[in-house]
Amino acid sequence: MRAAVNARIAGILLDAETIRRRVEELGQQITRDYAGKDLLLVGLLRGAVIFLADLARQVKLPVEIDFMAISSYGTRAESSGVVRILKDLDENIEGRHVLVVEDIIDSGLTLEYILNLLRARNPASLRVCALLRKQKAAARPVQVDYVGFDIPDRFVVGYGLDYAQAYRNLPYVAVLEFVERVGVPG
Ligand code: IMP
Ligand code: MG
Repeated sequence: MRAAVNARIAGILLDAETIRRRVEELGQQITRDYAGKDLLLVGLLRGAVIFLADLARQVKLPVEIDFMAISSYGTRAESSGVVRILKDLDENIEGRHVLVVEDIIDSGLTLEYILNLLRARNPASLRVCALLRKQKAAARPVQVDYVGFDIPDRFVVGYGLDYAQAYRNLPYVAVLEFVERVGVPG
């Protein structure tokens, strides 16, 4: 006997139009803040891909884009803050204005680790833009310079965010509900 966990969409938290309007605002803010500077957007794979693609097109400046892939050593539910680099940046960021683009800040441990790592490479500036920030992270001293939405401590999927690699292509952000069925033979 094993416990089977089924997940289902419990409801839409942020619809596509709400996201679009907020991403446009973030783009305008970033455009103002980085006027006259050359900006490197660093997307964290894979969750930030869709957000970065939309955000980059709302930044009316010449930007470059690079990616980093990391994997957390934590369990699925809690990140440990110890991060393994699966793919490093292609670009040298020394002297560059770097804006890290992240999908969601939960505990903030992953981000903290990445920022320490990038800071050691001496960028001209290092900032963070996250689409979503959970309440848990808002209560911690985590550096997030641009936040799309502060959301409750629920597990969300869509617009790049996954559960077991599924749901990334949903055009909205939805709350995922876990339905535990115990005693399933197998
Ligand atoms: P942190 O280190 O606890 O801040 O974890 C951040 C990472 O965990 C994010 O980059 C996501 O990959 C993942 N994550 C945290 N919360 C969620 C969620 O609600 N849905 C999907 N992924 C999440
Ligand atoms: Mg992530």
